[in-house]
Amino acid sequence: MTDQTFTPRVFSGIKPSGGLTLGNYLGAIKRWVEMQEDPTYETIFCVVDMHAITVWQDPADLTRATREVAAAMIASGIDPEKSVLFNQCRVSAHAELGWLLNCVARVGWMNRMTQFKDKAGKNTEKVSLGLYAYPSLMAADILAYHATHVPVGEDQKQHVELTRDIAAKFNHDYGRDFFPMTDPVIEGPAMRVMNLRDGSKKMSKSGESDMERINMLDDADTIAKKIKKARTDPEALPAEMDGLSGRPEARNLVNIYAGLAETTSEAVLGEFGGEGWGKFKPALAELAVEKLAPISDEMRRLLDAPDELDAIMAKGAEKAAAIANPILEETFKIMGFVR
Ligand code: AMP
Ligand code: TRP
Repeated sequence: MTDQTFTPRVFSGIKPSGGLTLGNYLGAIKRWVEMQEDPTYETIFCVVDMHAITVWQDPADLTRATREVAAAMIASGIDPEKSVLFNQCRVSAHAELGWLLNCVARVGWMNRMTQFKDKAGKNTEKVSLGLYAYPSLMAADILAYHATHVPVGEDQKQHVELTRDIAAKFNHDYGRDFFPMTDPVIEGPAMRVMNLRDGSKKMSKSGESDMERINMLDDADTIAKKIKKARTDPEALPAEMDGLSGRPEARNLVNIYAGLAETTSEAVLGEFGGEGWGKFKPALAELAVEKLAPISDEMRRLLDAPDELDAIMAKGAEKAAAIANPILEETFKIMGFVR
């Protein structure tokens, strides 16, 4: 085995499967922008459209959501000149490497994926085969670029660990130190933004009620109303983190505040400890509107020019393919394919 050193390279993605939420912003996009600005890294961000179809997507909705995710990235500060920004279906290396890695990943590993169990529920016989195989396509997304760092929310940690298992098995089976051991980057106070109505559930694009999430495209009044109606408890805010234990809704709002204000949850309690919700919620609403309104205004402007968005993604795809294709080719070669 030869020891290969890998350039620090960031890869991450978001599925175009409905409107983006504050969870996507704080858990993912906001930190991508920070990594883009860090000269240590090359950064690649992808609208993972092929992951979206693991559950039914109406074609018109898929088109709209793809552009919405690209617009959200750009409006939040992803600069297509500094980062590679594209949509997955345009770079065939993802699907091709995905197949190769399907033959490396073991069924037993897939059976342990908690997101599959949650999404499939009791319905494991009726969900698509793609939903089951999805984590090995995600491994291909990452490994096609030899990405070393993957910034994601807490819910994706297991999938990045699986990516390491797949890479390690490939390297071992073929006796080559070819794929890197990718690190998940899960840092900050808002890596798991919870549902505003039930602090035990993740805030997601697909929850039943719109009141349980803040969408990146919500207007100021809607954001304020959702925060005002967010579930809390009768107690005041504690001065220390210990005082949030057993209070998931209270903890969530404090974490959201900290994520938006770019501070720690401890510092937020330092400021608001002892105050009631009547003071904290309006402050949070004001902060959320201050941070999100400029982004949603820019998103709306970009969505009015879909051709421009499509051209940006097409150009990004060329840059992405230039990195991924040689890695895919080398993978085929290592495996013995005649090309
Ligand atoms: P998805 O919308 O499932 O494609 O997720 C895209 C990215 O957003 C992933 O890095 C997720 O971990 C992150 N994300 C989604 N929902 C949340 C949430 N409620 N809290 C934190 N991060 C999230
Ligand atoms: N599975 C991720 C999610 O549901 C999205 C995703 C697909 C991704 N491919 C990726 C994230 C590669 C990081 C890296 O949120």
